[in-house]
Amino acid sequence: MSDDTTSAADEVEVQLDPQALEAVIAAPESRFRHDYLEVRGLRVEFDGFVAVDGVDLTVTQGDLRFLIGPNGAGKTTIVDAITGLARCSGSVRFGGVDLVGRPAHRIVRAGVGRTFQTASVFDELSVLQNLDIAAGSGRRLPTLLRRRSGIPDEVAQALETIGLTALADAPAGVLAHGQKQWLEIGMLLVQDARLLLLDEPVAGMSHAEREQTGQLLRRIGEQRTVVVVEHDMEFLRTFASSVTVLHQGRVLSEGSVAQVQADPSVVEVYLGRGAGARGAAGEVA
Ligand SMILES: Nc1ncnc2c1ncn2[C@@H]1O[C@H](COP(=O)(O)OP(=O)(O)OP(=O)(O)O)[C@@H](O)[C@H]1O
Ligand SMILES: [Mg+2]
Repeated sequence: MSDDTTSAADEVEVQLDPQALEAVIAAPESRFRHDYLEVRGLRVEFDGFVAVDGVDLTVTQGDLRFLIGPNGAGKTTIVDAITGLARCSGSVRFGGVDLVGRPAHRIVRAGVGRTFQTASVFDELSVLQNLDIAAGSGRRLPTLLRRRSGIPDEVAQALETIGLTALADAPAGVLAHGQKQWLEIGMLLVQDARLLLLDEPVAGMSHAEREQTGQLLRRIGEQRTVVVVEHDMEFLRTFASSVTVLHQGRVLSEGSVAQVQADPSVVEVYLGRGAGARGAAGEVA
């Protein structure tokens, strides 16, 4: 990584374009109107260990749902089960499509996209190439060929949205951590994901990057269905519209931020016996 590239990466840090954000939410509303995620009796077992134990979850379009819970609560496993990466039983429906038992690539085609706790972009490829590949993944060959001559509109728009236009030709490997997460979100947008499941998207981000990411998710969440797994309580308090608290593979509590913070069982799990209501769920690690 050269010094030049590093400084270019630094310069575009935390610059999300408000106009581009407008563009991304300007998609016809009707495409999203009937979208919602409905999970019923979800169960995941690993060699006899029940990691997810009968979870129900309903997330509607326009909601910005946070999934929280102590380490090992089953948050990532739920995302894995919804996206076809963990074998599960129960029912998972999105946009009227039953997802359980479908291979992961079909779930992507049903409009479901996810990010991982560790960013999983192709480091050697440019930002643009990463987006281009994501955009092409759901398309038929003739469309792909027709669009080779220039940058497809949705890719250009995603670049603007995630604030990485100036770094389009830079290898993704030189991006700052936060920028890689934004690139991943951009890849979901060009894939046309209508349900986005984001696993700890702001972990390791600076305060400014978190703020920008929250704004980005809020706008995306106006039309798409967004589920965010997160430990960062300040981020949750600022941006969550609703919260599901998980503990040992089960739903412990659900509601608004204020409701779950006031729930004694949440206080108990996070702060331990005798901690009282003070700072309820306020200092969750
Ligand atoms: N492939 C696997 N094989 C066996 N056990 C697993 C597997 N994946 C997860 N687990 C176990 O399932 C439980 C839930 O794990 P999961 O990763 O979903 O937790 P999490 O809520 O995402 O935690 P964290 O906040 O640490 O990311 C843990 O006890 C974990 O050890
Ligand atoms: Mg996890």
